[in-house]
Amino acid sequence: MSKAAVPVTGATTIIAGATGKLGQLIVRRLAALKQPVRILTRRPDAARRLFGESVQIAVGDFGDRTSLDTAVRGAGRLLLLSPISARLVTDQISAADAALAAGVRRIVKISGSDWTIDPPGHSISGDAHAAVERHLNSLALDTVSLRPNAWMQVSLANAVRQAIATDTVAAANPDAGVGYIDARDIADVAVDQLLADTVTGRTLNLTGPDIVSARQLADLLSTTLKRRFAVVEKPPLAASGDADFEHRAIAQFAKLIAAGRAATTTDVVKSLLGRPPRSVAAFISEHAAAEAALSE
Ligand SMILES: NC(=O)c1ccc[n+]([C@@H]2O[C@H](COP(=O)([O-])OP(=O)(O)OC[C@H]3O[C@@H](n4cnc5c(N)ncnc54)[C@H](OP(=O)(O)O)[C@@H]3O)[C@@H](O)[C@H]2O)c1
Repeated sequence: MSKAAVPVTGATTIIAGATGKLGQLIVRRLAALKQPVRILTRRPDAARRLFGESVQIAVGDFGDRTSLDTAVRGAGRLLLLSPISARLVTDQISAADAALAAGVRRIVKISGSDWTIDPPGHSISGDAHAAVERHLNSLALDTVSLRPNAWMQVSLANAVRQAIATDTVAAANPDAGVGYIDARDIADVAVDQLLADTVTGRTLNLTGPDIVSARQLADLLSTTLKRRFAVVEKPPLAASGDADFEHRAIAQFAKLIAAGRAATTTDVVKSLLGRPPRSVAAFISEHAAAEAALSE
């Protein structure tokens, strides 16, 4: 794999997963920088409503290689994101191979959290992301896989919403911490790696600045909303035998988090962006009051 400087600035970036939670943030950042952006979507009308005329739209589906070949034509870089599913490996490898064939010079992949990937064998989602990472590493182009810890806007936001509805923070292990990361920081790093002269490595383990347990979350909410939040222990979610891939993956995340596996922080965001990542306390003060007002 070449890690030599490649002149990708100014080239079109194709974004897979653009209409989703993280993809939207990445598209808006690139558009604000006046970078040419093309998005891959099955829902062109929804995409146009989201982004107006600021992006090119390529209607396509990971399962339709011809649509991928058309979507990536003429692009210089690919942001590769797809949802957790049994199709993740085949979908992402197909998009990467289409990009390689079309002469795309860089792929930035949104991978799984580091603790789902390493050590292998504990997370079907992490193992799937790892298989894609191995494939990317075998390609003769610049690739980097971003491994974000749990996103504040997903797991933390859910915990805050439930806490506000029940006055309790429930967790399988109230003392197990998580190095939550704000999705805006993941988007900032993704844009940095898309536009940088060279990518920074094969994998980047992205976390927030601190590790926060359910017990600490209850304290933060109590201080911010000026009412008491109790902590309750509840068994981790179990997936039934016939649960689909995503639900089995989520049940495994819950077990790994309860075992303390997500309690990690790195300085990668700060070293790349030259500023610390956004904190859980800042996220809570930004979102908890609004969430509480909605529930009144
Ligand atoms: N949440 C976390 O804490 C966390 C942590 C680490 C890693 N991750 C990773 O983040 C990813 C999920 O990101 P997200 O939550 O932003 O996704 P999301 O909101 O679920 O959005 C999914 C996106 O994928 C596109 N998509 C789905 N199926 C498609 C298909 N067949 N063909 C083309 N596009 C398709 C959708 O586009 P259209 O509907 O417009 O076609 C949509 O833009 C997963 O890979 C997950 O492992 C998440």
